[in-house]
Amino acid sequence: MIKLTNRLKTAASFVRADRVTADVGTDHGYLPAFLVMSGITKDAIAADIAEGPLDNARKTVEKYALQNNIRLILSDGLDNIPHNVDELIICGMGGNLIADVLAKAEWIKNENMHLVLQPMTHSQDVRQYLAKNGFYIDAEKTCCDDNKNYIVISAFYSGENAEKDGFYYLFGDKISPDSSTDKAYIKRQYSFLRSRYEGLLQGNNEAEAQKYKALLEKAEKAGFDL
Ligand SMILES: C[S@@+](CC[C@H](N)C(=O)[O-])C[C@H]1O[C@@H](n2cnc3c(N)ncnc32)[C@H](O)[C@@H]1O
Repeated sequence: MIKLTNRLKTAASFVRADRVTADVGTDHGYLPAFLVMSGITKDAIAADIAEGPLDNARKTVEKYALQNNIRLILSDGLDNIPHNVDELIICGMGGNLIADVLAKAEWIKNENMHLVLQPMTHSQDVRQYLAKNGFYIDAEKTCCDDNKNYIVISAFYSGENAEKDGFYYLFGDKISPDSSTDKAYIKRQYSFLRSRYEGLLQGNNEAEAQKYKALLEKAEKAGFDL
C-alpha cells in the first residue's frame, strides 16, 4: 500500500466512495493509487498538464498494477477531463491557479460535483471563486507535514452565489485557534494580511490600505492576531 503524506491523506479523507474521481495535477499519481488500493474508488483519472509528471503517474500505476482502475490523461486543467467525473481533486497548486482551472470549466457546476482542493498558497482565491460561483464549503481541515502547514477545502455545488467579505476569503468559517494545526494556518493568513497592509501603506495606497486595516481589526476581534 502506498503511504501518503499527511497533506494527501487529509485530502483523501474527504473523497466520497464509489464515484468517478479525477486527480488533476497528479504528478506521481499517489493519491488516485491510494484511493483505488484502499477500495474508495474503482474508477479514477490521474491527469496532468505535462508529460513528465504523467510518466511518473504511469510508473506508479504500473508498479501497483492499477491499469484497469486508473486512466492517465494529459490535460491542461479540466480541458480533457470527462464530464461524468463527480469527485474532483486538485492538490499542491497555488490557490490562484486552482481558481483559474475551475473557472475555465462551466461543466463542473452541477449538484453531483464534489471538489477537494488543497491550495499551497492563496487559499483566499479558492474561497472567493467558490462563493462567487455557486459552491459552498462544507468542511475544511488543516494538517502539518515536516512543520509545514496545509489546508484542504471540501466544497459542493448548490448554484447559489454568496456575497462574502475579505475576512471570510482569508480565514473561511471552519477553523479555530483552539486547534494547533488551524492555529498555524491562521498565523500564516494573518501575517499575509499584515504584510499586505504594510506594503499598501508603504506604497501610499491609502484607499486599499484602509480596507486591509478593517480586515486586520476584524481578525484581531476574532482572536486571529496570533
Ligand atoms: C506540486 S505538483 C502536486 C502533485 C500532487 N497533486 C500533490 O499534491 O502532491 C503540481 C502538479 O500540477 C501540475 N499542473 C500545473 N498546472 C497544471 C494545469 N493547468 N493542469 C494540470 N496540471 C497542472 C504540474 O505539472 C505538477 O505535476
